[in-house]
Amino acid sequence: KIIVLDYGSQYNQLIARRIREIGVFSELMSHKVTANQIREINPIGIILSGGPNSVYDEGSFDIDPEIFELGLPILGICYGMQLMSYKLGGMVEAAEEREYGVAPLELKADSALFANTPEVQDVLMSHGDRVTAIPEGFHVVATSPNSPFAAVENTQRRFYGIQFHPEVRHSVHGTDLLRNFALNICGAKGNWSMENFIEMQIKEIREKVGDKKVLLGLSGGVDSSVVGVLLQRAIGDQLTSIFVDHGFLRKGEADQVMETLGGKFGLNIIKVDAQKRFMDKLVGLSDPETKRKIIGNEFVYVFDDEANKLEGVDFLAQGTLYTDVIESGTDTAQTIKSHHNVGGLPEDMQFQLIEPLNTLFKDEVRALGTELGMPDEIVWRQPFPGPGLAIRVLGDLSEEKLETVRESDAILREEIAAAGLERDVWQYFTVNTDVKSVGVMGDQRTYDYTIAIRAITSIDGMTADFAQLPWDILQKISKRIVNEVDHVNRIVYDITSKPPATVEWQ
Ligand code: XMP
Repeated sequence: KIIVLDYGSQYNQLIARRIREIGVFSELMSHKVTANQIREINPIGIILSGGPNSVYDEGSFDIDPEIFELGLPILGICYGMQLMSYKLGGMVEAAEEREYGVAPLELKADSALFANTPEVQDVLMSHGDRVTAIPEGFHVVATSPNSPFAAVENTQRRFYGIQFHPEVRHSVHGTDLLRNFALNICGAKGNWSMENFIEMQIKEIREKVGDKKVLLGLSGGVDSSVVGVLLQRAIGDQLTSIFVDHGFLRKGEADQVMETLGGKFGLNIIKVDAQKRFMDKLVGLSDPETKRKIIGNEFVYVFDDEANKLEGVDFLAQGTLYTDVIESGTDTAQTIKSHHNVGGLPEDMQFQLIEPLNTLFKDEVRALGTELGMPDEIVWRQPFPGPGLAIRVLGDLSEEKLETVRESDAILREEIAAAGLERDVWQYFTVNTDVKSVGVMGDQRTYDYTIAIRAITSIDGMTADFAQLPWDILQKISKRIVNEVDHVNRIVYDITSKPPATVEWQ
């Protein structure tokens, strides 16, 4: 495998991911790793990632100098290049202007790193400092208008430095460079796949867990389900899963979890029917954050109660993804909504964590689920908020209003599936707007609820556009909802993007 030492760039996990896409296993590791530890890991190459520091900053992220003596190929990216140059005797200085954006890179010499890429290519530059003198044994391979040392190498030692970011798509031939590095320079075979990842994880989990017991909070979502199936493969009945039905799941969802994960995949699941417990606490409440808080807390109590009944559990498994690691790592963002992750870790619990997905992106988790033989209904499930339908009822929460959302949501999902649009739309659901309006059904005057349909396209949920669903499909959905769902006589379509609206209405 190829290891990526983490110097804090927002793109660093993408580097590991691109290498995996090339078919070579890659993982991010702390920059504090020592040469001896690397010897034990026995990688075929090392990448030093970018980062926000300047090599001259006090406390800037460093490298064990012995790593340069391991005889392994090294690719330094941005800060990684500056650090390598600085450590090996070159010079790094603050550039007069921060260079940010796409720049034309021009090749000046043949290089294995740039094999089969054009002489001039666009790359993404993003740096304040730059290398101003290269260490002995290095030569310039490419320049850009602002960086005379945009790419340098020491062919003999197989050290490569690039000032730009090959891992982002703006660097048009970035993937080619990483492939050249991984396959040609490091000599990887390029036959790694999700299958290997499963084998590796199973081995690791078995070693870590031994004959101890593991607990998992199943939410019905993709991530915890994949963790469940993976752990079941690794340790079988040493795994116990707790699935809390808080009553705000979609129609049929709880049964599906039990049938698929409990039945087909044989997970040992304790299902807790806590609908009444949650509803008693929430009925009549309307403030979104209050509801989130109560649901989050109540979830922890229920989970705790069940966990306490079990004996001798040492580990807690979680479906933490790489993106969760980033998101919970930033404390600069303002809380717009407290995204209580139901299934999250009760704070005072004394467990060791097992997080087998924490190096993966969402689509890699899906690929993993498919490789594990899981059905599309689970693997391709749309995102669903922890507090569930409770935040899709506006105004005072009541069972009657919940029912309008549960039923209309089921119809919406059926019709989207029938139209084959499931993978085109990122998320789609209905909301009880708490608006009552006059209608006429048959000869009867009605005064009933208005249901809003929300359907969005998005890459990550951070920004979103409303989905342009075909009129005839919307018409069919609207007709079915007013005909089949009690207490609903009007349907509206939400045509706002995020921002300024959010995905959910609460
Ligand atoms: P918003 O509404 O903030 O939603 O634009 C972005 C994404 O997050 C989901 N969401 C939640 N997920 N707990 C969750 O686990 C929550 O409280 C929560 N609120 C929103 C939302 O469904 C969308 O995918």
